[in-house]
Amino acid sequence: MFDDLDIEALRSRPGVKWAKVGPGVLPAWVADMDFPVAAPIREVLEDNIRGVLGYPTWIEQPETHPLRAAFAERMLRLYGLTFDPAHIRIYTELIQSLQVMLHVATRPGDAVAMHTPNYPPFLQTLADMDRRLVPIPMIDDGNGWTFDAERLADDVARSGCRTLVLVNPHNPTGRVLTREELSAIAEIAERHDLLVISDEIHAELTYAPHQHIPFARLSPDRTVTLSSASKAFNLAGLRCAVAHIGDARVRQALDAQPPALFGEVSSLSVAATLAAWGRGDAWLSETRQTLARNRQLVAEGLPAAIRHHVPEATYLAWLDCRKLDLGTDPSTFFLDNADVLLSSGPSFGPGGEGFTRLNFATAGPVLEEILTRLRTAVDHHTVK
Ligand SMILES: Cc1ncc(COP(=O)(O)O)c(C=O)c1O
Repeated sequence: MFDDLDIEALRSRPGVKWAKVGPGVLPAWVADMDFPVAAPIREVLEDNIRGVLGYPTWIEQPETHPLRAAFAERMLRLYGLTFDPAHIRIYTELIQSLQVMLHVATRPGDAVAMHTPNYPPFLQTLADMDRRLVPIPMIDDGNGWTFDAERLADDVARSGCRTLVLVNPHNPTGRVLTREELSAIAEIAERHDLLVISDEIHAELTYAPHQHIPFARLSPDRTVTLSSASKAFNLAGLRCAVAHIGDARVRQALDAQPPALFGEVSSLSVAATLAAWGRGDAWLSETRQTLARNRQLVAEGLPAAIRHHVPEATYLAWLDCRKLDLGTDPSTFFLDNADVLLSSGPSFGPGGEGFTRLNFATAGPVLEEILTRLRTAVDHHTVK
């Protein structure tokens, strides 16, 4: 259950999650987990370091890259979906792969549809690449988060949009879109000839009874699927992501680029990803159980005035603090008054004001302490 983590040991870790906070502050922001690395991954990395760190075999023949077959196998095993290894490309991180796809498939000024709020680097990507955001607002319908597919169809038609970036499971709400919701998007994509770039990086952190459905199952020929072992297996520092390019036009555009332009992943990240997908399932299952327990602790331990829908996937809770009147960015209130660093809601774009995001992937006692601090800060604020 990973509950015996030592806070002082966590504090001395080199990663940004703990390095960013001062003494006494507990971090619950960036999407990293505090749990120890899975044994098969640690072992393979140690073996590699003791061995030779020369050029890997696939450097001369990218078509033999072992992650191509490994990703295809994983998608077949988890979702019964057939991906052609020849249509898989490897990148150093998911954000890079998104930027590469937008670079070859769209032009400056083009419209790109995306749910809002959304993962901040994706919104920043559109701004940096001068692509126009067509927001698909997430709507709190009282029972959970949803969106209006009819409005999406209208907005796509009106803006001349030809690309949709899907983040499913969704960050920050933790929604896992249903077959009906995905079918509605697929139908719009078909009608308006959209390329769908589907980020499924959180898919393996889906809680039963919810089920992740890869978008490529619905629209195989117009979907680029982006994924990585970095979220489910907590390997973000190693830098590795995979992309299955179902759309032949995107494949051709990519193949026309000089191959080294987008860099090459390190052999260590490949070894770790192969170990995660090949021998990491026991660790992942234990991790999911811990996260499910933590998700419950959050649901029971949040200040009563904070509104929140239990996430269907991810270890992120999207907290609606608007009733508390904590200003546009409640994370500053909690940093100042609770010594807890949360993610800033407004950084997630439209719909983020008055919200903050809590990362609950930590040891039970640390999470309990975080929740106690949030409650105490809200109690003092309410009494004032
Ligand atoms: C939805 C989503 N996509 C992509 C990423 C980043 O992946 P990478 O570090 O591989 O760029 C994250 C990280 O939290 C994420 O939540």
